[in-house]
Amino acid sequence: MRIDRRSLFIALASSTLFGVVACKGGSTGGGSGSTGGGSEIVLGHYASMTGSTAHFGQDTDKAVRMAVDEVNAAGGVIGKKLKVVTLDTRGDSAEAANAVTRLIDVEKSTAILGEVASSLSLAGGRVAQRRKIPMVSPSSTNPKVTEVGDYVFRVCFLDPFQGKVMAKFAKETLKVDKVAILKDVKNDYSIGLSDAFKESFEKLGGKIVVEQSYGQGDTDFSAQLTAIKNTDSQAIFVPGYYAEVGGIARTAERLGVKLPLLGGDGWDAPDLFKIGGEAINGSYFSNHFAPDAATPKAQKFVADFKAKYGIEPTGLGALGYDAAAVLADAIKRAGKTDTDALRAALADTKNFEGVTGSITIDPQRNAQKSAVVLKIEGGKAKFAATVAP
Ligand code: PHE
Repeated sequence: MRIDRRSLFIALASSTLFGVVACKGGSTGGGSGSTGGGSEIVLGHYASMTGSTAHFGQDTDKAVRMAVDEVNAAGGVIGKKLKVVTLDTRGDSAEAANAVTRLIDVEKSTAILGEVASSLSLAGGRVAQRRKIPMVSPSSTNPKVTEVGDYVFRVCFLDPFQGKVMAKFAKETLKVDKVAILKDVKNDYSIGLSDAFKESFEKLGGKIVVEQSYGQGDTDFSAQLTAIKNTDSQAIFVPGYYAEVGGIARTAERLGVKLPLLGGDGWDAPDLFKIGGEAINGSYFSNHFAPDAATPKAQKFVADFKAKYGIEPTGLGALGYDAAAVLADAIKRAGKTDTDALRAALADTKNFEGVTGSITIDPQRNAQKSAVVLKIEGGKAKFAATVAP
């Protein structure tokens, strides 16, 4: 991710000016070990509401708010209503750390939800861990995220699994033996997923023919794709985020590189199809959720989300909904907002029926989940396969 090099003062000032998306937290509470002493329990959400990954934050935030509205409509938890306060990270690590600091110190959050991007969850997680405030990332898949400490949880699968899923799919379903990798070296997620794919693909007997790289925000990928064109690669693994992946697909088409692109959950946004256009058809990516292959519980979520917001949710929404629901459930089981009790209740989450599947938090504070593989056809992502851990 881009590192914000401005001074802390400017970053803090700007996050104060532009960062408050929701209304300001009005709850009281705080003090050592216990928060949420008022009539509301504040859940702080830090998310990329603007910037090149705005879809990540916006879709997640909509779903978090929907989950919380449902909990509140059913009476709230432990006699209190939940309140979501969202601060914008703009897709920037320094802003993410500032947002979590503010959500804890100023908004008096009982717990933190976020981020989507692993690099940002690493930055925000360090703050939550230091303050001993539980944090649940809905969708950060890099292994390092929960290694930050015992207050950091996630409700999604991890990249070593996701990399294996795509490696197996490439080798066994697409019958491809030689793959090129094009990764974002400014992004922890992209680096980790690239390594995971490579390890699994080579174990299966496949070969990584060439590795090329770019940085988030880049718009010219012609040198990298020309280098790949000059090899005998049969597919290109592009473990990046949707904006750059869309640009990569277009450049590949322009240069006559007629290879399928393969990727991971970072592709999950309608803008991928807008930016990539026709060029993205025939590509595949792994994800957490497929709206067209949903369980009854997930179908209800998709229908409710559509009714409320007029658009179909992506996997991000599904995970945001589950993260908020798991957190509400843990507060209920803890019976209080004491942060240690809440941490223990989160760690104790077992067989929670989410819209993305059953969620059990393991001793490393991760969840083991199935992945889906989606095929892009006619400008839409369609369910192709489910892969269990
Ligand atoms: N898994 C990605 C990361 O860790 C974030 C992401 C999740 C993006 C789901 C899109 C959909 O950075």
